[in-house]
Amino acid sequence: MEKKEKIVYSASLSGIDAVMVTIESDISFGMANFNIVGLPDNAVKEAKVRVMNSIKYLDLDLPQKKITLNLAPADMRKDGSSFDLPMAIAVLNGFNLLNVELTKKYLIAGELSLFGEVRNIHGALSLAILAKEKGLTGIILPYENAEEASLIPGIEVYGIRNLKELFEFLIGKTLLKKEELKKYNLNNSTLFNEDFSEVKGQFLSKRAIEIAVTGRHNIMMIGAPGSGKTMLAKRISTIAPPLTYNEMIEVIKIYSAAGLLKQGLKNLFTRPYRAPHHSISEAGLVGGSSNPKPGEVSLSHNGILFLDELTEFKKSTLEQLRQPLEDREVTITRASGSLTFPASTMFVAAMNPCPCGFYGDPSNSCSCNQNEIKRYQKKISGPLLDRIDLVINVPAVKPSDLVNNINSESSKEIRKRVVKAFELQKERFKNENYKFNSMMPPKDIKRFCKIDENTKKFLRFSIEKFGISARKYSRILKVARTIADLENSKNIEQHHISEALNFNIQRILIN
Ligand SMILES: Nc1ncnc2c1ncn2[C@@H]1O[C@H](COP(=O)(O)OP(=O)(O)OP(=O)(O)O)[C@@H](O)[C@H]1O
Ligand SMILES: [Mg+2]
Ligand SMILES: [Zn+2]
Repeated sequence: MEKKEKIVYSASLSGIDAVMVTIESDISFGMANFNIVGLPDNAVKEAKVRVMNSIKYLDLDLPQKKITLNLAPADMRKDGSSFDLPMAIAVLNGFNLLNVELTKKYLIAGELSLFGEVRNIHGALSLAILAKEKGLTGIILPYENAEEASLIPGIEVYGIRNLKELFEFLIGKTLLKKEELKKYNLNNSTLFNEDFSEVKGQFLSKRAIEIAVTGRHNIMMIGAPGSGKTMLAKRISTIAPPLTYNEMIEVIKIYSAAGLLKQGLKNLFTRPYRAPHHSISEAGLVGGSSNPKPGEVSLSHNGILFLDELTEFKKSTLEQLRQPLEDREVTITRASGSLTFPASTMFVAAMNPCPCGFYGDPSNSCSCNQNEIKRYQKKISGPLLDRIDLVINVPAVKPSDLVNNINSESSKEIRKRVVKAFELQKERFKNENYKFNSMMPPKDIKRFCKIDENTKKFLRFSIEKFGISARKYSRILKVARTIADLENSKNIEQHHISEALNFNIQRILIN
């Protein structure tokens, strides 16, 4: 009975969420040895060395005993080395050296060096969330991870530097310094270095981008070299409304699990913007399977994933995007079960229309033949294109627009409109498990995209005229819903549909 109470709480990551692990210790007479049950074999050997060495540095002169640690649940895969610290504590607990009740109040995690120094871990934010959910008083973890854990109100957070500090705290000798609740500002739009006011002209492109950001629609920009596609894409984040608290927590959980918080939290209080190079691997883009790590689609969760020069990416890599763009999460299947990472991204792509870049350009002639153009455009598969709500042609800026001194609208002004339309969607979808127009499942489109008889007639006419597929039809309705929201119009009207159609008839795509 007494033994059972000597428990140390820790946790393991499954995907980005933490799962409770308890560590029991048994110390008995017999040959001096150290066993660990419930950790994968390869991890045990190294952990033993770090744990026993670190304890040696406490100079406790422990008797030679048989020590057994049991990490439960046994059948759960436990990744990482964050169990070193709680295991060391479990050993000390087994020797009756600690205040048992005090020890049980905290979730403990950390890697140890051979000399008892505590090293940072992945997923600290998720661990803090778990500690709170389980009703523990607090969490004790490496000092480098204390800041992210302190985003979670309602639990005590202690960051420590070595085993000795924790040992002295758990025997009641000293107190640890409590990490203060982290203050954050989600409305820090001043962080951006770019602004839409720098983009001259391009009214249609900017309008399409505003619509895309508002409904979180995927968008593709096609245009000649130098037409400003990359310039536009770099400014998309600047008109997106701030993250909500819950969105921020989701984002930080992903970065924390991926071990990407070394530069601190500051950059994660705005929506993520990821623009990986076209040489990226499949695992880099959507997440790996052997050592499961979130890929770029997950790192852009609640933000933007921009693939510039889309046709330069390997076709097989691009195909990997189909499932996450559809399901808004990535599922990674492994022998020990499957994991999911969130991946609700806004996908933005840019490409030239043909190898020379000038197909469809009003002021330059294209030197490619039809076959070359077809082969080039075929690099983007139909199913991938089907997942893109807006496809726009970005023409080079008109010389008259470029030289005039009229100030273009600033990102701040555009963002005001987007914020309003975000609010409308929030209200509309308050009872749904999604938040934006682009995410409406087929069953809800009828309910939320009401159109009158005349508009229906117009839509039917357009479908026949342009040969629009069923899939594209629902995309047009969703985009029209967003356009109506930007106008604060309850119903979708004919001019909303007609604008949505304009951004979807891919004249420049020939296949
Ligand atoms: N509308 C514009 N207003 C102001 N500057 C512009 C505009 N369009 C293009 N430029 C200028 O031209 C440069 C090239 O644009 P950008 O790199 O975005 O073109 P691109 O479409 O991405 O070309 P590529 O297909 O070669 O990648 C920009 O960095 C900017 O200086
Ligand atoms: Mg470019
Ligand atoms: Zn060409």
